[in-house]
Amino acid sequence: MNILVIGGGGREHALVWKLKQGDGVQTVYCAPGNAGIAAEATCVSLSPTDLEGCLTFAKEKDINLTVVGPEAPLVAGIVDRFAAAGIPIIGPDQKAAQLEGSKAFTKRILEEAGVPTADFEIFDDPTEAFQALQGKSYPLVVKADGLAAGKGVLIVQDQGEAEDAIRTIMEEKAFGDAGNRVVLEEFLRGEEASFIVLTDGETILPLASSQDHKAIYDGDKGPNTGGMGAYSPAPVVDAAMHEKVMRTVIEPVIEAMNRRGTPYRGILYAGLMIADDTPYVLEFNVRMGDPETQPILFRMEGDLVETFVRLHEGQLHKAELAWNPNPAVCVVLASGGYPGSYEKGKVITGLESLEGRSDVKVFHAGTKQNERGEIVTNGGRVLGVTAADSSLAACREKVYKAIEAIHFEGMTYRKDIGLKGIQREKNV
Ligand code: AMP
Ligand code: GLY
Repeated sequence: MNILVIGGGGREHALVWKLKQGDGVQTVYCAPGNAGIAAEATCVSLSPTDLEGCLTFAKEKDINLTVVGPEAPLVAGIVDRFAAAGIPIIGPDQKAAQLEGSKAFTKRILEEAGVPTADFEIFDDPTEAFQALQGKSYPLVVKADGLAAGKGVLIVQDQGEAEDAIRTIMEEKAFGDAGNRVVLEEFLRGEEASFIVLTDGETILPLASSQDHKAIYDGDKGPNTGGMGAYSPAPVVDAAMHEKVMRTVIEPVIEAMNRRGTPYRGILYAGLMIADDTPYVLEFNVRMGDPETQPILFRMEGDLVETFVRLHEGQLHKAELAWNPNPAVCVVLASGGYPGSYEKGKVITGLESLEGRSDVKVFHAGTKQNERGEIVTNGGRVLGVTAADSSLAACREKVYKAIEAIHFEGMTYRKDIGLKGIQREKNV
């Protein structure tokens, strides 16, 4: 069996690593991959949004299963193209991918399905959006409707800031066409969690829960990033909350998509804010999370290839997944300056000292090999050091000890990954 993974970050490295362990897997390709993925799979220099290029490659190499990491190709319709060519691919089609492609679409679905979410208003016209600011309470959340690489959500403290945010999104078009429409949303206070499921439109198979750390600095301070670390499971999602999320969020949304005639098949990620014992949906992603995938797959027992094949065949009820009860923690090592501007090409040392361990794995994100054969930084998020142990506290100790071996100029990381989970464990 030949597998193609699309993307080149830490999430895709974790996917490649796990899929490679599947029964009957011959070759794993990754487009475009990174230096860490290159050590485990064959990297192909194709952009994830080059849908034609990816399809041609999949035909040439007799790919039996394609797994898409990032959202952009899904929202652009890669699944529709592969399906038309009869090539198995995991993910929602273009219509269903609107759950990430348009925040306004998602809000309407949530309303239709009666799923808890922040109160909201949607505007196509900036003048109307400005007028709507009268009498709003603050903080307020201003969101660009479309895909904005995780940057289109602005939390504002007063009306002046809200006007600036609307101007930035709708008039200056800081996020391009993603800002043709804006969502104004009530600010929710609570604890965030990531809840990811696999579904063939009928059966829903939840993955282990996780928690991301979006802000750049310790204590959730500073601007948002793609995610600076994650752990799984998230103690805030206990058994009762898990059941509530399935019953009040995931099932109603899958049913609503079926009723609309746009069934959802693939991976669905609900970004939740848990407040007053209620899971509110902040957003949906139509893919795995990054870095959540790293600790989740590190704990997954069972064959992910077989599970994806069952999903594709509409036989997900026959799939089984099990989870190592030990938690896992992933800490992201980032380039100095990220999420703002940063330099690339810094030599990374110390990686070899962590190779071959079963309890620690360094997943690569923005890395590449230079002409001299050195591994150098090539992005904002560079590495995701992941460790498993018997408790979150033991994971933290292990992961931060492992990080001491790694060095590159400007390397920064959060020191508090997992602390919220430990705090929550103490409170229950
Ligand atoms: P989103 O891409 O919609 O998940 O938003 C990115 C981040 O902004 C979330 O992970 C939250 O930290 C924050 N956020 C989004 N919507 C809200 C909200 N209604 N209330 C509070 N925080 C929010
Ligand atoms: N870690 C957040 C995301 O994958 O969207």
